[in-house]
Amino acid sequence: MRKISVSIIGASGYAGGELLRLLLFHPYVSISQVTSRKFTRLEVGEIHPNLRKVTDLTFSSPADLKKCDLLFVALPNSVSMEYMKDLQIKATKIIDLGADFRLRDRKVFQDWYHTPHIAPEMLSTFIYGIAELHRKDIKKAKYVACAGCEATVSILTLYPLVKHGLIDKDIIIDAKMSSSQGGNSPTHSSHHPERSGVVRTYKPTDHRHEAEIKQELSPFMKDIQIAITATTIEMVRGLLVTIHAKPLAGVTEKDIWKAYRSEYQNEPFMRIVKKTTGNYRYPEPKILVGTNYCDIGFALSKRENRLVLIGAIDNLGKGTAGQAVQAMNLMFGYPETTGLEFPGLHPI
Ligand SMILES: NC(=O)c1ccc[n+]([C@@H]2O[C@H](COP(=O)([O-])OP(=O)(O)OC[C@H]3O[C@@H](n4cnc5c(N)ncnc54)[C@H](OP(=O)(O)O)[C@@H]3O)[C@@H](O)[C@H]2O)c1
Repeated sequence: MRKISVSIIGASGYAGGELLRLLLFHPYVSISQVTSRKFTRLEVGEIHPNLRKVTDLTFSSPADLKKCDLLFVALPNSVSMEYMKDLQIKATKIIDLGADFRLRDRKVFQDWYHTPHIAPEMLSTFIYGIAELHRKDIKKAKYVACAGCEATVSILTLYPLVKHGLIDKDIIIDAKMSSSQGGNSPTHSSHHPERSGVVRTYKPTDHRHEAEIKQELSPFMKDIQIAITATTIEMVRGLLVTIHAKPLAGVTEKDIWKAYRSEYQNEPFMRIVKKTTGNYRYPEPKILVGTNYCDIGFALSKRENRLVLIGAIDNLGKGTAGQAVQAMNLMFGYPETTGLEFPGLHPI
């Protein structure tokens, strides 16, 4: 199999660093350049210490980016759309990890991100990056926009039930977030005395990922209502969603199993976790750290007439870098699981 030349713009960040960790061991990838403005010419291992002695790459300036087969864009939101037109000349294919090209409608983008889109004509050229929903299109895609991490786990948890018409359209997502989701630039709220030990609800309503989730699930359920409450907790990596939905009349546990099995039994990274005994009865993000797995569990209560869904991922794994590598494998015709076939750590 031919090796492709790959570069990462924004490689000193958390998403870029995780991508680099995965790509350095990918058998069909040769890394050309990794960029950082702040750390130009510095060895990668100085910023990503887990990669010491793994690579002798040094950071280049984004201005020195050369042509490559595939460019990963790991820039902050609203920055990638500033660069994208120029970047298209640099690479045959592009995978963007940020939010700028996920939403297809420029008005929806402006409504949620409070700024006009700089390159609205490019929005329709990107395919949303969740392989489990868009595998066929990703295989043919020139440009892919990976989903937000919170959107990824929520969409994957809800998709089979929405598609099979098992739940009501009014859905509440309670999300427990980790600190690495905020990226590597310190802020007052991420300062250790302010952040350590918190259980802090920072976005009770109107979380931006509601727009992505609606975009992806509304073809299966008209007028779907999504409400996210986001709470940051003492966790560096990982994301857990607890989703409250009303089962439609007559829906049984068997129907739910059937929907999940029919959509995910052949999916390499989707696991249904629902046990009646033991420590690990439902999904937990801790054991997914570093992996591309998404674990899903559920509990149906007849007494409460409520279906509680539990979804877990690593925000930097399936939530971004792992998802991006999975998409890359599809775009270049490699086996979809290449470079992603490893379990998490236990204990951790
Ligand atoms: N963190 C997560 O869990 C997560 C999950 C899903 C998706 N994402 C998405 O992935 C993207 C990156 O997130 P992150 O967490 O890795 O952020 P981050 O840690 O803040 O890293 C951002 C990177 O972009 C570079 N950069 C910033 N401004 C730039 C500019 N104007 N021009 C060129 N380079 C610039 C930074 O390096 P220099 O400042 O050194 O140039 C750094 O390498 C975001 O769009 C985010 O939404 C992140």
